[in-house]
Amino acid sequence: MKRLLTAVSTVAVLCAAVLAPTPASADSSQVAQVSSAQGAGSLIDASSAFATGSSQRTSRAVEDGWRRAYEGLPGQMQQAVPPHLRPPAPATPADADAPAGVAVAPAHNPSRPPESPRCSNCVAVTYDDGPVTGTTEQLLDTLKRKDVHATFFVLGQNANAHPEIVRRIRDEGHTIGSHSFSHADLAKQTDAGIAAQLDETNAALKDKGTVEARWLRPPYGSYDSRVVAAAAARGMSLATWDVDTADWQHRNTATTCQKAVAGAREGSIILMHDIHQPTVAAAECVIDGLRAKGLNPVSLDEMIPRPEAGHVYTRAD
Ligand code: NI
Repeated sequence: MKRLLTAVSTVAVLCAAVLAPTPASADSSQVAQVSSAQGAGSLIDASSAFATGSSQRTSRAVEDGWRRAYEGLPGQMQQAVPPHLRPPAPATPADADAPAGVAVAPAHNPSRPPESPRCSNCVAVTYDDGPVTGTTEQLLDTLKRKDVHATFFVLGQNANAHPEIVRRIRDEGHTIGSHSFSHADLAKQTDAGIAAQLDETNAALKDKGTVEARWLRPPYGSYDSRVVAAAAARGMSLATWDVDTADWQHRNTATTCQKAVAGAREGSIILMHDIHQPTVAAAECVIDGLRAKGLNPVSLDEMIPRPEAGHVYTRAD
């Protein structure tokens, strides 16, 4: 309680000192004059030193004291302190030597690379098993109208059959990943079989769409350490999912939308299939529903711009 009273009186004294000059725009020299004129003891003396910047060491001590007092206040009282009177953030080591009165930008740690900005509230919307004429194209129309990039995990054999759709997916800014060549259960393949499923699909994508596939979604979500190693050797990452709409099972538009939206949270990967008409019909509902939840439907390349080769992503984190 004593600490609280001290804090409150500190606020009162400082507020009085700063608010005393009638113009709201009182600058620090006016504050200093008022403070000195009042001659109200050591706190105000120190405060005026802080305000004028005449003694950096003193000003730092006052600043620290004020910060401690402020942090000791109950939340409601902190809110009552006008923003311009609240204590600044603690000094960083880099600006400890800065000349008085010189503003210093926050220090960067040179040993740590700048982190890429996080994809805020992002959710990856993904579609497997295409591309096919009809439903894949209809989905592309919807995504364009809604201004959304998604991810298409294509089969190599379908990419060979529909190169024009592969190029359209690429040209419209979506992420294209591999879903194997012929929808093989990769964990049940020989090592050579795994290699063939990956290499033939990557060749198809490179040949038909000049796409370098960085992502592999193993059919049925089935993989083992050999599949992971084969992907890593090709610079690829695995993407499974944390939201399964089961769209291929129920083939129901409303259910697909409900499962996609209800299950999604920031960083989710949603599994759907662009070869089913009810799924494609749900796309607009899914996008609107995610946005209504404050989520941002994006492609995998947008959500995870620098995937780690050989890592299995079920979500962004
Ligand atoms: Ni599939």
